Amino acid sequence: MDLLDAVKALDSSIEVIMMTAFGTVEIAVEAMKRGSHDFITKPLQRIQVLKAVHRALDRRQLVLENTRLKAAVFEASHGADRNIIGRSQAMGGMMEVALQAARSRANVLIDGESGTGKGLLAQYIHDNSEAAIFKKGIFVKINCAAIPDNLLEAELFGYEPGAFTGANKKKQGRVELAHEGTLFLDEIGIAPPTLQSKLLRFLQEGEFERLGSNDTVKIQTRVISATNVDLKAAISHRQFREDLFYRLNVLHIKIPALRERTEDIPLLVAQFLEVAARKNGRPVPLIHADVFEVLSHYEWPGNIRELQNLIERLVVLNTSGEVKLENLPQEFGGGKKDNVIRVPIGLPLKKVEGLLFRETLKATKGDKKVAAFLLGVHPRTIYRYLEQQQLSTTEKPEGTEALIPQAKEVDPPTEKQFNLP
Ligand SMILES: Nc1ncnc2c1ncn2[C@@H]1O[C@H](COP(=O)(O)OP(=O)(O)OP(=O)(O)O)[C@@H](O)[C@H]1O
Ligand SMILES: [Mg+2]
Repeated sequence: MDLLDAVKALDSSIEVIMMTAFGTVEIAVEAMKRGSHDFITKPLQRIQVLKAVHRALDRRQLVLENTRLKAAVFEASHGADRNIIGRSQAMGGMMEVALQAARSRANVLIDGESGTGKGLLAQYIHDNSEAAIFKKGIFVKINCAAIPDNLLEAELFGYEPGAFTGANKKKQGRVELAHEGTLFLDEIGIAPPTLQSKLLRFLQEGEFERLGSNDTVKIQTRVISATNVDLKAAISHRQFREDLFYRLNVLHIKIPALRERTEDIPLLVAQFLEVAARKNGRPVPLIHADVFEVLSHYEWPGNIRELQNLIERLVVLNTSGEVKLENLPQEFGGGKKDNVIRVPIGLPLKKVEGLLFRETLKATKGDKKVAAFLLGVHPRTIYRYLEQQQLSTTEKPEGTEALIPQAKEVDPPTEKQFNLP
């Protein structure tokens, strides 16, 4: 027990297997509590030892991979809070443009699907603005989709008492609050037409009037807007003013969807695990490699926000300290939408099955375990299919069965297989 403590103190990631001839349940529990990976009682069975060692090695591998990932997160994070994660090429290029935008006076239009991090990037641009330009003021956000049309104008430009029913005292609008700072117009694509005209004037002249007032207010602010609707299309449908678009879109930043930068997924997962664990007071579970594989084949319609929510769910619901394929929700059985196979009507089912097996294996780069998970079958089914393939394509003379590779089963090894001294 003392040795166990000493080893764990030296390096807690070393897996220890305890072995004793005087095992009691109490001692075993105590050893596990102190960090022992396994506990074996004599008389020793070699197969038992082998299994324990294999389990410990697997575990250590898992720990090391997860630790390596955690270390890589810092390297790949941007911003003062280091909360923007990504080292994919797509992300790198984007962050560079964002930094250039921050150091300019230009208005910026951020365009990206829901949950890709538009809000986060807008804040990053503000934070990196030069103090002499737009950092004296604050970052002010208004979500055009969250405020009813009739209140939007008042909220944005402010009002005088009596401007409308219910306006009993003067109120500064968000535009005024953003003086010498950043005004972030979220979901600009659905701003109503009257607001669009007023915004246009403000962007052209740098001035406006509060509702119910004739006094002109002059304001200096950088406008960052964000949209997940296609503004070009909205313009052609006459839902968005083209002149306003050009004022907002001096610099354009397109945030890639998560499925376009799957190489960032492991890093994002590592980061979100830490955050979710801290927030919920839970330990950080270890993620198995094939889980990452499945996550990188998923479509991610909700992008980073969806990933963030998934990870939090996995952390909160986790009891084993590890996340395996079977812990993923049902929708992850799907695979990429653009990986489609076309099947002619009337193709015999057996052939459809074969086609599906082959294509899925291709998509998983030959990983049979992941393919089996995606298809919702036991890995053995895949092995059996491959075996049959071999049999039907090989011209085999009598007595050559032994040459045909046998399916590698996951059945436990028998003691005989290991010729230990
Ligand atoms: N690169 C990133 N690294 C780490 N976290 C990110 C990254 N991008 C986005 N997030 C996180 O993902 C979540 C969604 O980001 P955000 O709200 O900025 O997206 P959005 O594009 O504004 O979404 P919506 O269109 O729904 O408003 C946030 O919790 C944000 O912190
Ligand atoms: Mg947003």
